[in-house]
Amino acid sequence: MTSVAGVRVWLVDRLEASGALTPDWRQAFLDVGRHLFLPDVFWASTGDGYERCDRAESPERWLELAYSDVAIVTQWDDGADSGQREPTSSVSMPTMVASMLRDLDVHEGHRIWEGGTGPGWNAGLLARRLGAHNVVTVELDPAVAAQAAANFRALDAVPTAVVGDAADGHLPGAPYDRGILTCSVREVPPAVIGQIRRQGALVLPFAPLFGGGAVARLTVADGTATGPFTGSSAFMRMRQQRYQAPPVDDYLPGDWPGDSEHEYTTLSPLDVVDDWLASFVVGLAVPDVYYRRSGGGDMTTLWLFDTGVTSWATVDFADGASRFEVRQSGPRRLWSEVEEVVRWWMKQGRPGFERFGLTVSGGEHRAWLDDPVNLLTSARG
Ligand SMILES: C[S@@+](CC[C@H](N)C(=O)[O-])C[C@H]1O[C@@H](n2cnc3c(N)ncnc32)[C@H](O)[C@@H]1O
Repeated sequence: MTSVAGVRVWLVDRLEASGALTPDWRQAFLDVGRHLFLPDVFWASTGDGYERCDRAESPERWLELAYSDVAIVTQWDDGADSGQREPTSSVSMPTMVASMLRDLDVHEGHRIWEGGTGPGWNAGLLARRLGAHNVVTVELDPAVAAQAAANFRALDAVPTAVVGDAADGHLPGAPYDRGILTCSVREVPPAVIGQIRRQGALVLPFAPLFGGGAVARLTVADGTATGPFTGSSAFMRMRQQRYQAPPVDDYLPGDWPGDSEHEYTTLSPLDVVDDWLASFVVGLAVPDVYYRRSGGGDMTTLWLFDTGVTSWATVDFADGASRFEVRQSGPRRLWSEVEEVVRWWMKQGRPGFERFGLTVSGGEHRAWLDDPVNLLTSARG
């Protein structure tokens, strides 16, 4: 029979050995059990999709998954039974929770704001470590927030839980020494930056429209937030930052290939979009471009569009091909822009997430390589 204490120590030891969990967080992870935040039925993201687990049917497996290093989905489709099956709330992967708390670099007496309570594990850990009165957490979805409130009842240290929009921060509790977002953004909400104390830090998963994602650790001063990415991440998006793409007809009213120009590339489109890091770099450099795929199997078409609805491109991928047909239409050459970024990145020796950084100021987002002066756009030019 698996014991809760046994699996909890097993997980904490593994997180510490990997370096994700720093020793100052060990006791909080031992005190605040992850299973307290899980419903009886959940879906574990085990790599080959989602494994549904029902505590009543398989209590051992339920506990094993609760203390495995996997994200656990607790809500689909914003709670509507729409049949779309998009995960919309979860208890995050323990490695991600631990490493983001490590990046947050908290100290005794710090006041913390969290955006995206979910079932509440991260907020519970923060409250255990820093004291209930120092932690405010904000959740948009009332049903998720109600579940978190119920989960918090099992804790000694209960954070202040607010139902609201994390994009507004939470002014009554400001200023905060640290802020942490646990839903991803492609635009850092200005109100959140404004509520962090000077030289305070903001840790958040940044996910450009094009794809990829990484945790950013930003230092805040005078309305500007700047800092490096610390590693890859994959989080569900802040609700209002999901992109609703216009219909393809708005770009291409007639039949493909319309008035497009025709050429070939030797860069495989799948080497761009199937590579989390390459997609991320493209997204940093060309923030207003997104893609869709059509086809599948040994023949795929990658469609590129801009959010300004001025231009489109297609690139055909066929198994075994060494050159790929490109069609581009509109004032912008979207595939050429994407290819230029990817070739530049390859020429730099394919720098990893940690060599990139982000500066957010006055609503503008500027990505850089190695140093805030080395902006991605000018570095490539
Ligand atoms: C990955 S879950 C949070 C994980 C959680 N903090 C934990 O302890 O594991 C992301 C949460 O962000 C919430 N969310 C999305 N958009 C939001 C917004 N604008 N304001 C507040 N919460 C939001 C979702 O409803 C979801 O519950």
